[in-house]
Amino acid sequence: MARKFDVVILGAGAAGMMCAIRAGGRGRSVLVLDHAKAPGEKIRISGGGRCNFTNIHAGPKNYLSANPHFAKSALARYAPRDFLDLVERHGIAWHEKTLGQLFCDESARDIIRMLLSEMKAANAVLELQKQITSVEKAPDGFRIATTDGPVEAGALVVATGGKSIPKMGATGFAYEIAQQFGLEIVEPRPALVPLTLDPNLLEKLSPLSGIAVPAEVRHGRMSFREALLFTHRGLSGPSILQVSSYWREGDDITLAIEPDLDMAALLKAARRTNGRQAAQTVLSERLPKRLAQFFVESRGVTGHLADLSDKAIDALAASIQNWTIRPAGSEGYRTAEVTLGGIDTAGLDSRTMQAKAVPGLHFIGECVDVTGWLGGYNFQWAWSSGHVCGEAL
Ligand code: FDA
Repeated sequence: MARKFDVVILGAGAAGMMCAIRAGGRGRSVLVLDHAKAPGEKIRISGGGRCNFTNIHAGPKNYLSANPHFAKSALARYAPRDFLDLVERHGIAWHEKTLGQLFCDESARDIIRMLLSEMKAANAVLELQKQITSVEKAPDGFRIATTDGPVEAGALVVATGGKSIPKMGATGFAYEIAQQFGLEIVEPRPALVPLTLDPNLLEKLSPLSGIAVPAEVRHGRMSFREALLFTHRGLSGPSILQVSSYWREGDDITLAIEPDLDMAALLKAARRTNGRQAAQTVLSERLPKRLAQFFVESRGVTGHLADLSDKAIDALAASIQNWTIRPAGSEGYRTAEVTLGGIDTAGLDSRTMQAKAVPGLHFIGECVDVTGWLGGYNFQWAWSSGHVCGEAL
């Protein structure tokens, strides 16, 4: 005999737990199934263990999707302030780090504990380490086969996330279910991910490995001003992760190191006041020493500042602040924070997250083709899409 629930949610991540809280709170019987040993594993490791749980400025402009309007409704109906109210009701101390990014003062585990206690209050049942073997349409809803026997659900919510960090149990399961029920998929790809360089460039940049600097990284019309990190594989840091969601193979990106400074003006002023200095000495006052040395050597700049023409100074400054690089690739799902693309929003109702062609079947969170910038936006999408879905069940 199959057990019966009004709602079965596949995936006890951020979106699935939020949906369970809302649906259970509205009196629905709810079962959440997950194959992992613990719920909310990505919450636990997020934000360096402190979970950047939302971004107070989150709005549709901070998300990538084939339909940029799709996220509007859910984000408006369950906004960052709503999640923050929940956090405050649970007495979890938080702080704004930068750019509207809100983090726990203590631990990301506080967020998981909060969600679990809300789920308990809503009488939602959580079952872990359950392998789901198949999902089928049944006369009154859906039949979910698991290694522990079948379950029947009036409504089925798929919240199994994207493909990033397979080591943590991420799977493409949501896409398989979507395809089984005839929904379209926007090609998934790793996003918020470090970019790699071809071996020649990597060798040239190898002395810079480990250096972090403020930068503006540009790709087309998008630009992000945050830290840039040189690594032994290529480029990383928040500015690179942000741009990686827009970058495609074969594209160039442009780096401006220390974008708040005008390097050409600085060098020319130094030439006026003390022309007997070397360019490297002046740059070393503003940049890590190894970086200053790298730029000077790459441009073949030698001698005193007084010996450099305006043109030579402009070219040196441009190599620092208008530096075009063509990344070779990305580090892939192994280190990507999120998966870009996913279930095509054209097939979903933006108010309920229900598949238009399959009544009772819903998709929420990262598996949907809505991907946030770095900085708390992805969790906000998980909370918002989970909440509005729970509201509709
Ligand atoms: P999520 O991946 O959280 O949950 C999916 C659940 O489904 C998991 O519990 C998984 O075990 C389960 N599952 C998968 N396949 C299954 C199957 N076949 N059967 C059963 N269960 C299955 N975002 C942000 O806003 N702020 C931040 O600070 C960070 N930091 C961060 C750090 C790192 C290292 C990563 C990898 C990611 C982030 N993110 C983030 C992104 C954020 O973690 C992500 O967007 C959300 O967790 C997505 O929530 P979901 O609930 O959609 O999926």
